[in-house]
Amino acid sequence: MAQARIADASDPEAIREAARIIREGGLVAFPTETVYGLGASAENEAAVARIFEAKRRPRIDPLIVHVSDMESARRYGVFPNAALPLMERFWPGPLTLVAGKTSLIPYIVTAGLDTVAVRIPAHPAALALIRAAKTAIAAPSANPFGYVSPTEAEHVAGQLGDTVDFILDGGPSAIGVESTILSFETSGPVVLRAGGTPVEDLQAVLGRTDIQIGSVLRPSVPGQMKRHYSTRTPLEIREISENYNAAAAPRAGKQGERIGLLTLSLMEDASRYAAVEILSPAGDVREAAAGLFRALRRLDALALDRIVARPVSEKGLGLAIMDRLRRCAAGD
Ligand code: TXA
Ligand code: MG
Repeated sequence: MAQARIADASDPEAIREAARIIREGGLVAFPTETVYGLGASAENEAAVARIFEAKRRPRIDPLIVHVSDMESARRYGVFPNAALPLMERFWPGPLTLVAGKTSLIPYIVTAGLDTVAVRIPAHPAALALIRAAKTAIAAPSANPFGYVSPTEAEHVAGQLGDTVDFILDGGPSAIGVESTILSFETSGPVVLRAGGTPVEDLQAVLGRTDIQIGSVLRPSVPGQMKRHYSTRTPLEIREISENYNAAAAPRAGKQGERIGLLTLSLMEDASRYAAVEILSPAGDVREAAAGLFRALRRLDALALDRIVARPVSEKGLGLAIMDRLRRCAAGD
């Protein structure tokens, strides 16, 4: 297939064209506030099957359904009462809620589950696309399965450009990590994936501090495969002292080894690294999350021997950053 066309997501004509493609069963990559999505009509089984093929994604890994308003959220999902205050407070936004599936959603979307993951994205182009397509849009992140998610249209064009029909370019994603996924189990709320909505914010609205983090509880949930969001270059998470001392350095690189450094803020002496990515000179985890995947992709393009990532505090978006780094670091 030819390279997909890229169009400016703020152009109403481009939105109309993208919506037409979705209605006709095609694939459109589109911007959201978290990462770029690879979208197809959530009600069209054959179109959704193309998503799995394009990404080489196992069919056991369910997709997120994107809607533009509460009313359509309820057409596709039956939400527990406990979810209502969260929908009011965080939608549109980077929170995905697991609800009971209605018959409008084919089982290919949910990988056979009777539940469906739903969110309203906070990006004007995503909302305009969903409204114009007049259907919910099923969309995983627009990257080959297992690789780092795309936060720019260029990332999508480079990796999936020959398998999608159309790419909407809405500029860099503002949040930069995927949505937080929350499920309501009989035992209480469980975060299935840390993401763009901080767990502290969920706690505040739910008025409870016992929200569980699911990847520990249920390692077998689809999509929680350990190695995910991965660079091709091996990555390790390691704290290194600000005042680098060659003699005392733990596991110093082998002679001639080219190491990339991913760090929140500037190091005093980073001269031994072949490349350095500073996520936020001011040490702000929001800014760090927004640039995380771009930085990983840049380091991964340099054919380094390995990447050393310094840990960040797991507060706010720091939890999602550390989750992605850990998955990236996990061996096959
Ligand atoms: O920010 C995001 O969520 C982005 C943008 C495009 O919206 N989407 C995204 O989709 O990250 P994806 O496919 O990369 O991740 C979807 C994950 C699955 O891997 C699975 O863990 C979870 O959502 N999921 C989907 N449906 C589920 C269900 N019914 N029950 C439990 N988990 C589910
Ligand atoms: Mg993904």
